[in-house]
Amino acid sequence: MLNLHAMKNIKSAKIIHLTLVLIITFFSCANDEGSITKIPEPIVLSFELVVSQQNTLRITANNTSTGINGLNSYWQFTENGPKVTDEAGPEMHLYDASGDYLVTLTVEAPEGDIQLSKTVTVTDSNEMQPPLKDATNSFSVGMAVKSSQLNTQHSDILIREFNNLTAEFEMKMNIMYPSQGNYDFTAADAIVNYGVDNNMNIHGHTLIWHTATPEWVNNFSGTDEEFEDMIEDYITTVVTRYAGVVRSWDVVNEAIEDNTNNLRNSVFRQRMGDDYISKCYQFARNADPNALLFYNDYNITFDVGKQEATFAIVDDLRSKNLIDGIGAQMHIDIFFPSATQIQSIIDGTVSRGLKMHFAELDVRVNPNNDLTFLTEARAIAQQNKVREVVELYNAIPDANKFALTVWGMRDSETWLIDFWGQPDWPLLYDDIFKPKLAHKGFLEALDN
Ligand code: XIL
Repeated sequence: MLNLHAMKNIKSAKIIHLTLVLIITFFSCANDEGSITKIPEPIVLSFELVVSQQNTLRITANNTSTGINGLNSYWQFTENGPKVTDEAGPEMHLYDASGDYLVTLTVEAPEGDIQLSKTVTVTDSNEMQPPLKDATNSFSVGMAVKSSQLNTQHSDILIREFNNLTAEFEMKMNIMYPSQGNYDFTAADAIVNYGVDNNMNIHGHTLIWHTATPEWVNNFSGTDEEFEDMIEDYITTVVTRYAGVVRSWDVVNEAIEDNTNNLRNSVFRQRMGDDYISKCYQFARNADPNALLFYNDYNITFDVGKQEATFAIVDDLRSKNLIDGIGAQMHIDIFFPSATQIQSIIDGTVSRGLKMHFAELDVRVNPNNDLTFLTEARAIAQQNKVREVVELYNAIPDANKFALTVWGMRDSETWLIDFWGQPDWPLLYDDIFKPKLAHKGFLEALDN
């Protein structure tokens, strides 16, 4: 499947190959001394222009002329534009905007300059690609944000393309409940209000997560009963505050321990018992019976044991009518997991009559740390993987669809760089907010 897509892309690549042959022949002649003048090679002028797939305003111009050895040559990327020396190897040029541009190669030949020109059409991919949210009405398209990102440039894209909002970290317990009895909803309110003002669904993430538990909770000095009361108060306070506004909550996040697939021995489990999960879901259900409640975890597409452990948690919650959906965190890469593996979490979710959230999508292109910049080949592989993920999601029955959430906007903003300690480009927009090929892959999956 990957290969087929790759071939399709290569076929559709805008390759403007032009060959204009200018042959200037110098006749051999005898000079005054009777010696023979060397016969110069005929000059055959030709060049090739390739529009980049990754950045559609960028072209590569490759001088393929023959017979010009030792002669100076230069490019002009616009009509009568500045002269750019033709160095050995291909030349790159970035245009500011869409348009038709006359590209000229000039060779300074002994008999006078010779030139070859060709028009190239470049199209700003920003203009080419319609908004993601307009490409489907059967599920929401989500983005994770920080309150500091609700500025103009992020906001333009958020409003244009997305209709589901998740706080990347500011609706977690360590931020909303920094010390006992003192809630801080400053950032959470800013994000929720922004979403409401812009007609977005808001996904609450996440009430209980061992990684975002404040120290005072880990070191709670009261009895177990007081601990449970405190958690009930916390969940009730937060969910009530946003009742009717936050459509859905990840109540418990990542409860399963890697490798053993047992319940993590978090402070919540230690203080409230093995059934702490259903207690937390019950508190949330009581506070807002209309909110959709999700269980969210990672690696549950391919890790069969972890997937089974997830379904065990979920089946217990289902028996108590405390769960509405499963969030599969899609922290994936261009090679892995496979479509079949991804389909397995869909099948288990749908067969249980639950909603499927493809949460936290990012697609690493550099899992083996062999890149120092995003190559065109990897950008295309990422486009193909994103297309595959969205196609799988889109094929879910409508009743089980919910949202597909991307975990960050620009590549430079991804949490993965800190997490893995190596470069990567896992998101849909580059550092200057331009949609990447991955963005196009998302749209292609919905283009039917
Ligand atoms: C990450 C955020 O991206 C970071 O900004 C934050 O500092 C730590 O958490 N699984 C989850 C997300 O459920 O909440 C995590 O998000 C990424 C892994």
